[in-house]
Amino acid sequence: MAFRGKNAVVTGGAGGIGLQVSRQLLVAGVARLAIIDLQDNLEEFVKLRAAHPTQSVMIIKMDVANKKGIEATYEEVKKTFGSIDIVVNVAGIFNDKDVQRTLLVNLGGIMNSTLAALQYMTKDNGGNGGIICNMSSVVGLDPMFIIPVYGATKAGIINFTRCLGNDKFYQRSGIRFVTVCPGATMTDMFTNFTEKILFPETSDDTYKILDRLNKQSATDVARCILSVLEKEKNGAVYVIEGKRIVPLEIKQLWTGKEPAH
Ligand SMILES: NC(=O)c1ccc[n+]([C@@H]2O[C@H](COP(=O)([O-])OP(=O)(O)OC[C@H]3O[C@@H](n4cnc5c(N)ncnc54)[C@H](O)[C@@H]3O)[C@@H](O)[C@H]2O)c1
Repeated sequence: MAFRGKNAVVTGGAGGIGLQVSRQLLVAGVARLAIIDLQDNLEEFVKLRAAHPTQSVMIIKMDVANKKGIEATYEEVKKTFGSIDIVVNVAGIFNDKDVQRTLLVNLGGIMNSTLAALQYMTKDNGGNGGIICNMSSVVGLDPMFIIPVYGATKAGIINFTRCLGNDKFYQRSGIRFVTVCPGATMTDMFTNFTEKILFPETSDDTYKILDRLNKQSATDVARCILSVLEKEKNGAVYVIEGKRIVPLEIKQLWTGKEPAH
């Protein structure tokens, strides 16, 4: 995928990995970028606009868990940009003590943003097709016992995105869907970690596990996400670890056919 002249949307683009993805998409030459986030990060947004004066940067303060709000946001983006080519859904939270909110933001938010975007991107509704990249995590693949709620939302994102990444759907929509699963990354997400886990009595183990984790930078993860977008491999799932992207081969376990007797 060539980024130059394309219109992109990034959710969760005010901080952490999403901010780095936004920055790198602008550097790669997208014509217009919409950042959807709950929080303002005025200082960073001023810097982004100053560094890219000829590109349009639209900032929308919106909760991805708010389905109607997200639909209205995409309507506004489509009206302003004319078309949408790239969506990177990064927004997410960690708080296993708040199950409802974790489901609504992590899984609901990805679904809200993906489904709202696809109706403007799909070729069978006058769009140009494009690519939607959804943010999961390595813990959506390998269970990490201390974070079951977060892990379950991340596992759900993989399944949701792989379903849409079916080539039959692509033939109609012209939209490719990919999932990224970064390993531990240095951001604010896991601050006050032990206050947000379900079973604090496991916190000794928790600290040991966290200490052992090799944390990569948000900039490196964003760089990998841009290369994933460039590969345009519909339905693909990638682990992002230590500046590398590792494509996963996920075997089909169920064929839907009766075994021969
Ligand atoms: N940090 C890691 O180790 C790691 C590893 C794998 C995957 N991830 C995933 O990467 C994504 C980004 O995480 P991060 O580490 O950069 O965290 P972060 O907390 O630094 O950034 C998350 C961004 O999402 C925004 N956000 C949160 N809830 C939102 C909502 N309801 N609506 C709109 N925006 C919202 C925040 O305001 C923030 O700007 C998350 O989905 C996270 O699960 C993180």
